[in-house]
Amino acid sequence: MKYINLGDTNWQVSAVAFGTWRMHSGNNVSLDQATKALEAAYDCGINFIDSSDVYGRGESEKLLGQALRNSSIKREDVFIQTKGGIIPHQRYDFSKEHLLNAVDDSLQRLGLDYLDAYVLHRPDPLMEPDEVADAFDQMQREGKVRHFGVSNFNTQQFLLLQESLDQKLLVNQLEFGLKHTGMIDHGIHSNMSDERSIDHDGEFLEFARRMGVTIQAWSPFQLSNYGGLFINNPDYPELNQALQKLADKYQVSKNAIALAWILRHPASFQVLIGSMNPEHIVDNAQGPEIQLTRQEWYDLYKAAGNDLP
Ligand SMILES: NC(=O)c1ccc[n+]([C@@H]2O[C@H](COP(=O)([O-])OP(=O)(O)OC[C@H]3O[C@@H](n4cnc5c(N)ncnc54)[C@H](OP(=O)(O)O)[C@@H]3O)[C@@H](O)[C@H]2O)c1
Repeated sequence: MKYINLGDTNWQVSAVAFGTWRMHSGNNVSLDQATKALEAAYDCGINFIDSSDVYGRGESEKLLGQALRNSSIKREDVFIQTKGGIIPHQRYDFSKEHLLNAVDDSLQRLGLDYLDAYVLHRPDPLMEPDEVADAFDQMQREGKVRHFGVSNFNTQQFLLLQESLDQKLLVNQLEFGLKHTGMIDHGIHSNMSDERSIDHDGEFLEFARRMGVTIQAWSPFQLSNYGGLFINNPDYPELNQALQKLADKYQVSKNAIALAWILRHPASFQVLIGSMNPEHIVDNAQGPEIQLTRQEWYDLYKAAGNDLP
């Protein structure tokens, strides 16, 4: 496993993190399976777990807490992060009252007395940065949360909040992978007027590199907008051939190559994987061991349907 510094801190966290979006009975995941998946991740050197209060409508946090207690993993040996700020099908809510209640509910479901990080799940247009700052201060003062981050924020939203906080935001969770490359497309198409030149996130990638913010890339194997997997998908033969060629060369799976592609970028990405299958987790965890050449990185980018002007 490769380890990276989280944000601009000295903490060494695994470059691959274990995501628990799919850890719930709706996805046919039992406590036994959740425990096995968690232990497989830990045995591969993964020391970072991500959840959210909306995953499985709270069930994922519960199952994660149970799986952790069921496993041989010590609480202090893993970095546990969850997210809040969404009231499903109603609104995003960054009010102090909601955030304080939400973090208490998450801790209770997880069966933990502190979180390593709390992340705001999706930007709330009604966000009052000072109110969020009060909530974060209180969570930290009461020993419930150690660090903070955001998810799906653009650069200005990130700065707007950061300027009101005493704590440094360490992470921003953003969708990124071979079939969701907007963060780099617009840079490659800079100064052009085609569709790919459109910047969808306020140049967050460049901002993160300058400011030492970790981008947590979510859904690395998925098509954009929850469109399903591109790996072994017959609609993407060119990309799958290119992945297979490198998988053969490096003697790993196509999934591991897709992760190596993200991690080859010089921004310090952390990739959130979502498999609940121990074999697939072991497979994916080989990604950080592979250092693609510059040409291989570009070949995969082009095979994914992108051009170089
Ligand atoms: N902040 C946000 O808005 C946001 C949004 C979405 C997700 N996330 C985070 O990102 C995490 C990952 O998202 P994701 O689950 O979409 O990621 P993903 O790892 O791209 O996709 C997981 C899916 O790929 C399959 N898969 C993985 N490795 C495989 C392999 N080697 N062979 C065959 N199939 C394989 C899994 O099936 P198996 O289980 O059968 O292996 C599962 O169906 C989530 O858990 C969550 O923590 C954040």
